[in-house]
Amino acid sequence: MANSTDLPSASSPTLVLAHPTAAERRATWTLNSKSWGAALSLEDYIERETHLAEIPPTIDGGVTHWILTESSLPPDARPIYSASESLRRRTFVCFPGGEVTEGITHGIGSVFSPPAYRGRGYAARMLTLLGPVLNTWQKEVGESHFSILYSDIGKKYYTGFGWPPFASKHISLPAASLSSTNGVNGHKPEEAKLLYADDLKELCDLDEGYLRTEVAARTKTTRKPSVAIIPDHLTMTWHHLREQFMCTKLFPTRAPPTIHGAISSGALGSRIWIIFSRVFYGPLSDPKSGNNLYILRLVAEDAAAADTEENARRLKSVLEIAQGEAKEWGVGGVSVWNVSDAVKTLLQRTGLQYTTVDRESESIASLMWYGEGRGDVESVEWVGNEKYAWC
Ligand SMILES: CC(C)(COP(=O)(O)OP(=O)(O)OC[C@H]1O[C@@H](n2cnc3c(N)ncnc32)[C@H](O)[C@@H]1OP(=O)(O)O)[C@@H](O)C(=O)NCCC(=O)NCCS
Repeated sequence: MANSTDLPSASSPTLVLAHPTAAERRATWTLNSKSWGAALSLEDYIERETHLAEIPPTIDGGVTHWILTESSLPPDARPIYSASESLRRRTFVCFPGGEVTEGITHGIGSVFSPPAYRGRGYAARMLTLLGPVLNTWQKEVGESHFSILYSDIGKKYYTGFGWPPFASKHISLPAASLSSTNGVNGHKPEEAKLLYADDLKELCDLDEGYLRTEVAARTKTTRKPSVAIIPDHLTMTWHHLREQFMCTKLFPTRAPPTIHGAISSGALGSRIWIIFSRVFYGPLSDPKSGNNLYILRLVAEDAAAADTEENARRLKSVLEIAQGEAKEWGVGGVSVWNVSDAVKTLLQRTGLQYTTVDRESESIASLMWYGEGRGDVESVEWVGNEKYAWC
């Protein structure tokens, strides 16, 4: 590694954005495992990252790895000053006066500079180059009106490069065994049904239609462009394959989880369902690891989620299953991102214990807008800003 005095200035014209080779990717994972692989051994972490690049929807170009490096040196013999990856997701976008159109977005993840190269503006240079590139990256697949990332280092850094923060709140419920909540407010757990892998495709397809309608409605009422990442079956599959990998490593004697969500009773059009995933950041024994069961997506089929006792019971019945699964898998609790006001009102009716968190430093949903206008939280509506879109 070069002496710090030999390092190029971050603004040097010889620094370029490039794609790492397999060996360079491995070298980066070896260095960044401390940041994102705390729950796993180094070997398992590298295996996970390799695996995640080979599963739907990341295979066939769904993930792109990026590095900031020296243009004059050949692959595998060049320094990696900074690294990141981008994951492609399908989107809906609606402009005032227009129809909902489908396109793509790229979500940036794993932004990392090796410790020896930090504080010299290399990540800044990489992001400055990457932002505009992602506007047209893989344009043969679809049009991209925005890119996203989830900052774990607060709201300021990425805002400086054009990714200002959007809503980053969540509801947190404790893990609880079903038996301890059974019967409260007349609820019976059998009112909800568990969701398994085979149940998800049909619900995701339905949800796509609901979300399309919501995006159009939001543009109509706010007169602003509305965007959404589509909570499609492939996206859920990505989360569940990731979860499966983690559970296989962390619970070697146990079969990986098969319960992926819950759906309430009720006729089509009135049900409430959740799709969830257990996420592990650190050792199971450490309560500070932040391991959690995340609700990837919460759907109230009746978009207004009317404030009725019946709807509250439906919501409660599915959330209790999530709490039970959180307990079962030894994670701290259940987290639901950016709950709508209507669902919040229902939640109060359920009598469930919960807290509301407005995150300031971790998983800050951030969006770079490629269209006209400021493109910040005041001028663009991000519909369905929930955990499923995380990357
Ligand atoms: C964050 C990171 C990519 C920055 O790389 P870099 O090449 O040093 O970035 P730059 O030189 O462009 O910018 C440095 C600035 O980043 C910001 N920054 C770095 N780490 C930060 C943190 N944990 N919290 C808030 N800001 C942070 C600071 O503003 C810092 O300026 P300073 O050096 O004057 O304090 C690097 O520190 C890293 O790899 N950290 C570990 C992994 C990580 O947290 N990645 C970000 C995930 S969202």
